[in-house]
Amino acid sequence: MTQVAVSKSQATIDLFDQYVIPNYRRYPIALVRGEGSHVWDADGRRFLDLFPGWGCNILGYSPPAVVKAIQEQAAKLIHIPNTWYIEEQGRFAEFLCTRSFGKAFFCNSGAEANEAAIKLARLHGSAQGRFRIITFEHGFHGRTFGALTATAQPKYHEGLGPMLAGFRYSKMNDIEGVKSLIDNETAAIMIEPIQGEGGVRIPEPGFLQALRDLCDEHGLLLMFDEVQTGMGRTGTWFGYQQTGVKPDVITMAKGLAAGVACGAMICRDEFAADLRPGMHASTFGGNSLAMAAGLATGLTIEHDGILKHVRELAEEARTYLTALQQRLPIIREIRICGMMIGIDLNIPSTPAVAKCMERGVLINATNNTVVRLLPALNVPKSDLMEGLEIISSVLEEMASEPV
Ligand SMILES: Cc1ncc(COP(=O)(O)O)c(C=O)c1O
Repeated sequence: MTQVAVSKSQATIDLFDQYVIPNYRRYPIALVRGEGSHVWDADGRRFLDLFPGWGCNILGYSPPAVVKAIQEQAAKLIHIPNTWYIEEQGRFAEFLCTRSFGKAFFCNSGAEANEAAIKLARLHGSAQGRFRIITFEHGFHGRTFGALTATAQPKYHEGLGPMLAGFRYSKMNDIEGVKSLIDNETAAIMIEPIQGEGGVRIPEPGFLQALRDLCDEHGLLLMFDEVQTGMGRTGTWFGYQQTGVKPDVITMAKGLAAGVACGAMICRDEFAADLRPGMHASTFGGNSLAMAAGLATGLTIEHDGILKHVRELAEEARTYLTALQQRLPIIREIRICGMMIGIDLNIPSTPAVAKCMERGVLINATNNTVVRLLPALNVPKSDLMEGLEIISSVLEEMASEPV
């Protein structure tokens, strides 16, 4: 009798079927171990991951310096509440603010960082009755009610209404449209310097500066959601540093602590007092373990010259993909900023991602037609090029398929 091999992932899948709420679409694979840009499933199959941890594993899987910092910190102190001064929080705040500006508040995720920014904007504007926040179509800011309302994508609001009051949505690159939404109740403008989930959309030159000018003219806060673009993703510490525009607030999470849950909001010094004691808090925010992991992440990026590596690799990827685009008319546009790579197709991108997975390369499909890569910032050039070769062969195959 022939035996049908049962995947070792099955036991985990069975547990999920019985005990885990099915709010995610999951691949039928349990990933059990990772190292660098590679990850293994329960059956020992190895994948090259060019989208590790949805952009959170910014130094790849189990980076030694971060592992060491976590182990040492866990043995010393995992968590103390914010009623005390927390040594590691002070040091990580110093690290981040001396590479950007202002003062930091810590939390555990991108949505929470944006909630903090939304509350800061409202608190700042409250004396003048200002509470409205303008955000942008195709943006993504998280799943809590404030951050979700800020996310101008109706598909994420379906069945959840009424949403939070006080948000207005504009098209990106439409400065006249933004102007028409501003009134004397407007408190802030919030935007991703590059829209990630929306398909690696880079604003047109001058648009972010025009927003800065509008904010200065009307006394609004300019808030950049750097949850995806922060912590070196774009080849500078923060995405705004490539735009020549200085926001009043930045939010971050994802790669901040190389995969340990960690979020932060940084605001200019003059706005820090608006988040006065008692008005906002997070029990786990800024805990010793996450802060030690964050600091080790930042120091590794700096000591290993990773920002330069990111910029150099981005140019390699651009050269390679631009040549591919010239050969393949199914590629509409290549959009790259550091290790944030979007390949916009004129066909759906989900089948391309599935075919790449069959060939051992993990990437992502977003906004219907975009193939998205968020490789680890320290991905070796050979791994990135190997992945691009496989993506290229998949796209070539798809381009030759009859419509
Ligand atoms: C730009 C941006 N903001 C906010 C979030 C929400 O972050 P989290 O899932 O950590 O709440 C995300 C997540 O993808 C994001 O890409």
